[in-house]
Amino acid sequence: MSKQNLKPPRGTRDLFPEDQRFREWLFGHFREVAARFGFEEVDAPIVEHAELFMRKAGEEIVDQLYHFELHGRHLALRPEMTPSIARMVMARAGGLRMPLRWFTVTQNWRYERMTRGRKREHYQWNMDIYGEPGVTAEAELIAAITSLVDAVGLERDHVKIRINSRSLLEASLRAGVLKDRPEAFEPLCVVIDKIDKVGAETVTDMLVDPAGAVGLDAASARDVVAMLEVKNLEDAVAAAPSDSTAGSDLLRLWSLLAAYGVDDRVVFDASVVRGLAYYAGIVFEAFDTRGALRAICGGGRYDRLTEALGGPSIPAAGFGFGDVVIAELLSDMGKLPELAREVDDVVFAFEEAQRPAAIEVATRLRAAGHRVELVLGTPKLKRVISDADKDGVATLWLLGPDEVERGVVMRRRLETGEQSEVALAGFDPEPRA
Ligand code: HAM
Repeated sequence: MSKQNLKPPRGTRDLFPEDQRFREWLFGHFREVAARFGFEEVDAPIVEHAELFMRKAGEEIVDQLYHFELHGRHLALRPEMTPSIARMVMARAGGLRMPLRWFTVTQNWRYERMTRGRKREHYQWNMDIYGEPGVTAEAELIAAITSLVDAVGLERDHVKIRINSRSLLEASLRAGVLKDRPEAFEPLCVVIDKIDKVGAETVTDMLVDPAGAVGLDAASARDVVAMLEVKNLEDAVAAAPSDSTAGSDLLRLWSLLAAYGVDDRVVFDASVVRGLAYYAGIVFEAFDTRGALRAICGGGRYDRLTEALGGPSIPAAGFGFGDVVIAELLSDMGKLPELAREVDDVVFAFEEAQRPAAIEVATRLRAAGHRVELVLGTPKLKRVISDADKDGVATLWLLGPDEVERGVVMRRRLETGEQSEVALAGFDPEPRA
């Protein structure tokens, strides 16, 4: 028999206890911030109807789908949460109190070409608002992202959120080069989204490519790419077509963000369009200010998704915040938390004959809410003490033949070395603080 490969499949992760501790810490912050903003947690199956993700705008996410046929059904591991959320909202449409605020912390699968911060499975914290057409929704979402950045201990200037409005670009293009084929707008955004990765020249070539989904002439393609260079809110608003609300929406969003006290943490950037076809309106992505990593999170308004899935039109906005990039950033910044194993008490029987008494002590401590390790086997006391020290254990409970015979247990406080005997009869430990 060939030897078993001990690594998990490429792009996936095993989580050893220290990894799992970090994950729980991060997810705890996701959940805590979401709760502070009044969001409720929901979940959906990781195996979904494949058709939920089959869109035709040339998005990478569709080609990266882990999918399979089973008993005549075409199923897929979800690559993102948004279509499942939309499906759930549609399933209860009419019965939900709008605007609704839902959050999720879920695993997603994408068969990616791997680079730093990009894996084939990742977890995402999503926050989504349905039923609110105004930018008050986007403002809440962006404020929540900044709260998370603060909660995990990053400095205010480590992360900036770049904001744009797809509507600005859309209004200009639909009045101009895409006048006769508005359907090319979504594929165009998917191409533009690659600009950070492949550069302006390649994006121009892709927009011109007659075999591609956009097929612009060279001059129009150059005009489009030039429009992405605007980095100033006032210039963007001035260039917005008069029949569009995109400019006034952006100004209102900025004034709301000022009221939250976070307007210094956002910048306007016309090159942010997002790589998913369903966005329309405000879009945003958070980046580390050094520019060393890919986007930490991304989101925006996607009012047309429920309609595209065959349902009623429901305004929606949200974001997805991955677990991989934030971990890289915390590590780069020296901000990874030190998370020790959490054991309060260790109970040790010197010999098997004292085990029943040790079990009783451990059981009473556990009933009082303590986190207790009952030592298995009978290692040397020195080893028990040194392991307990490493784990930051507060109290050691020792039971030798002499203690049990006298009906006591020896309590040793590890920090001070102080020892005292406690009667086994009526042993009633203090509840864990
Ligand atoms: P997304 O930009 O594809 O958006 O993903 C959001 C975030 O998830 C990214 O910024 C990144 O941090 C993380 N992420 C995505 N793919 C990977 C990967 N292969 N490896 C590691 N991290 C990754 C969405 O998925 C939208 N559904 C977000 C959304 C929610 N929009 C509205 N509501």
